[in-house]
Amino acid sequence: MVVLKTGRELSVMREACRISAGALKMAGAAVEPGVTTAELDEIAEKYILSQGGTPNFKNYEGYPATACISINNEVIHGIPSKKRKIEAGDIVSIDLGAKFDGYHGDNAATFACGDVSSEAKRLMDVTRESLYKGIAAAIPGGRIGDISHAVQSFVEARGFSVVREFVGHGIGTHLHEAPEVPNFGAAGHGIRLASGMTLAIEPMVNAGNYGVKVLPDGWTVLTRDGSLSAHFEHTVVITPDGPKIMTVAD
Ligand code: MF3
Ligand code: CO
Repeated sequence: MVVLKTGRELSVMREACRISAGALKMAGAAVEPGVTTAELDEIAEKYILSQGGTPNFKNYEGYPATACISINNEVIHGIPSKKRKIEAGDIVSIDLGAKFDGYHGDNAATFACGDVSSEAKRLMDVTRESLYKGIAAAIPGGRIGDISHAVQSFVEARGFSVVREFVGHGIGTHLHEAPEVPNFGAAGHGIRLASGMTLAIEPMVNAGNYGVKVLPDGWTVLTRDGSLSAHFEHTVVITPDGPKIMTVAD
């Protein structure tokens, strides 16, 4: 069931999203050679708690941390570790969210550590822009497939591929709600979009093939072909005036 949110709910959810975006911004700003993924996770967690939120990934289906931090050929769900140091030239995807007063925010971005390859830069630019193409398609009266198609067509026209096995989602009193928001599909298909829907739109884009595999840790998702991957996500609300991004930092 897709839950449409009222104005009161949206104002609480906006706070969860503000906290989520602030934590992502702070963790992203701390990406530099030698920093560990556990240190980035701690920065995010401390910020979320300081704002009266709680890290909503922690303990979700047993997930052990605040953030998912996925480097280079890791797509999503990398587990922060004291042993994993970020190196110059890495691209670092950070995905995290906060719960505040019963409502969730969720966002992600890929950050460059120092100078990265021109392919990595292009992958990050195309993935970020594909998110904005998807968001622009989130209008009342449209369909979920309009978002999917906007992302997929933009990405594939630039020679990259969209991951199929993981998708975006509705969000609200639960981190994951209906509907699913795939990053691939046909325009004009899927459920109808309506004012009050809150969606986490989150393209995961591989430089090579779209295939992925999961490490034996049960979480870390890698590209099957070893190619680089990037991930950008915003929590968005559909309004009569069009889509509004909720995950905006102060
Ligand atoms: N970041 C995922 C999403 O955007 C959720 C992470 S699941 C967790 O939907 F278990 F890692 F938290
Ligand atoms: Co999400």
